[in-house]
Amino acid sequence: MENEEIIRLLNKDFVSEIEATMVYVRNAFIMSRCDPSRVTEAIAIDEMRHMNWLADLIIKRGGKPTMEHKELDFGGDDLETQLRKQMEYETEAVDRYKKHIEMIDDPEVAGVLKHILDEEKRHRKEFRMRLETIY
Ligand SMILES: [Fe+2]
Ligand SMILES: [Fe+2]
Repeated sequence: MENEEIIRLLNKDFVSEIEATMVYVRNAFIMSRCDPSRVTEAIAIDEMRHMNWLADLIIKRGGKPTMEHKELDFGGDDLETQLRKQMEYETEAVDRYKKHIEMIDDPEVAGVLKHILDEEKRHRKEFRMRLETIY
């Protein structure tokens, strides 16, 4: 795979991490219940760490991280719909990282993406557990 293609895929991941970070930071303030709010805040910080790791890989390969994110969907102002939206972000991330790990034949990149993938799976589980406690 061409270096430029690797940078392009990493930038897709980077932008998705920006979106998740911003949505979770905002939702953590809105959520009325303490536990899901604190979990969402902690996960927002994980997503920001992922941004840093990805930006590092992009810069090392001569690229620049792109900040052009799409319009943010916060999942409304309701705890349940927010948690559902957040689970959607995590599922998208899991699917995207799995795909990129298969596509990118660079051991350093694959190692970082696998680490991130494990964390995204854990995030989805954390959000699912909070969703289950609503009912
Ligand atoms: Fe992430
Ligand atoms: Fe995540």
